[in-house]
Amino acid sequence: MAIDPTKPVPPTYPRVAGRDNIPAHVPPELVRSAGIPFGPDFLRGPHAYLAGLHENFPPVYYDVSDFGNSWQLIKHEDALFMLRHPEIFSNEGATPFPRDPDDYYYFIPIEIDPPDHRKYRAILDPIFSPKGVLALEQKIRDLSNALIDEFIDEGGCEFTTAFGRPLPVSVFLDLMGLPQDKRDTFVSWAVQLLHSQDRESMAQAMDSISSYLKEVIAEKTAQPDDHVISRIVHAQFDDRPISPPEIFGFVIFLFIGGLDTVFATLNNIWLWLANNPERRREMIANPAAIDAQVEELLRVWSVTFSGRQVVKECEIRGVQLRPGDRVSALLPACNYDPEVFPEPTKVDFHRRRKPNLAFAGGPHSCMGAHLARLETKVALQEWLRRIPEFEVAPGAAIEYRPGAVIGPETLPLVW
Ligand code: HEM
Repeated sequence: MAIDPTKPVPPTYPRVAGRDNIPAHVPPELVRSAGIPFGPDFLRGPHAYLAGLHENFPPVYYDVSDFGNSWQLIKHEDALFMLRHPEIFSNEGATPFPRDPDDYYYFIPIEIDPPDHRKYRAILDPIFSPKGVLALEQKIRDLSNALIDEFIDEGGCEFTTAFGRPLPVSVFLDLMGLPQDKRDTFVSWAVQLLHSQDRESMAQAMDSISSYLKEVIAEKTAQPDDHVISRIVHAQFDDRPISPPEIFGFVIFLFIGGLDTVFATLNNIWLWLANNPERRREMIANPAAIDAQVEELLRVWSVTFSGRQVVKECEIRGVQLRPGDRVSALLPACNYDPEVFPEPTKVDFHRRRKPNLAFAGGPHSCMGAHLARLETKVALQEWLRRIPEFEVAPGAAIEYRPGAVIGPETLPLVW
């Protein structure tokens, strides 16, 4: 359905939730309640749970939950089909974050379908391309080292607060053209927005972020620079200047898309490194293989999902999907598809390259993927160079936080 991004309106699709609202075309034998991403079985060990779906669940099943019912895809091939067919699977209303219906905006580019979608991506392509992000490499290295300097002599740290969160936030501030002294404030807003259990607290965080970003947008309008916010503010879209709701929806989505995902990825990888000293030493002994190592770690520890709205009837593995249905590709489960990745949960740095779905695929594949890869790579290089031996603090309980970005809540380490 064509939408006008300059005049945003909330999506009209009905929300279907709970067992009493299963559409008639859904075969009863495909109905499940997988409890992703809030259920206790999932939270006990999310990645093991997602890998186990291949043994215990049909490849396409209809998930019923009080938060919303949806088809769930766990096969690599089916996820690629969904991601590559935006004419069947639309992104309108794809994100769950609350917005005021009277002051609505789209999250850009994620909620915009092709062909308009590409025009937004083009605005930032020079910054997010592999060559563009290389310009940030030295900064990421310096930031990583400055953070490590703060705790290395203490013989331990809580990884999340000391490194995992501040690193992507600092990189983000540089990229956007925001002051570094805002780092701790941004971290606290991100935590409050993405991990509050109540809507009120989420809405408060959204208000703080919104008022700050609106001020910054006004400043960058008056004083352009070469950073991301300024490029968006001064972008030309077809033959018109980009409009205020587009600017705001684009800037705020970068904040949401870029901070939590990198942090969760680092937390998962560092937990694995801490628990697998032999594999860690293998990595340190093969510094030239860092790119393959990063790719495999991103596959095994992928952290998020892709949601779509079915707008055209279609069939996947003989299952009918109808307009109005929601569908979600469980990307970490797809990355554990044993038909594509034999012994899928094993970290194997010598695998043959196959599409890694950590960053999804198709037109909406992650815009920050090259940056995220670079951040992960540089963080690994600098940490392993300076702190090669470390483990989880004895007695520490690792708990996973509920939500659509999978990672341990905290990670106390000692060395
Ligand atoms: C390891 C870290 C990251 C992971 C695992 C990740 C994952 C993803 C995934 C799976 C999508 C596709 C969502 C969908 O199809 O519905 C996506 C989209 C996106 N990501 Fe990332 N992301 C990461 C880091 C970043 C960073 C650092 C940024 C920017 C600073 C970023 C910005 C975006 C944007 C703007 C989109 C929307 C792209 C579009 O709609 O065309 N991401 N990301």
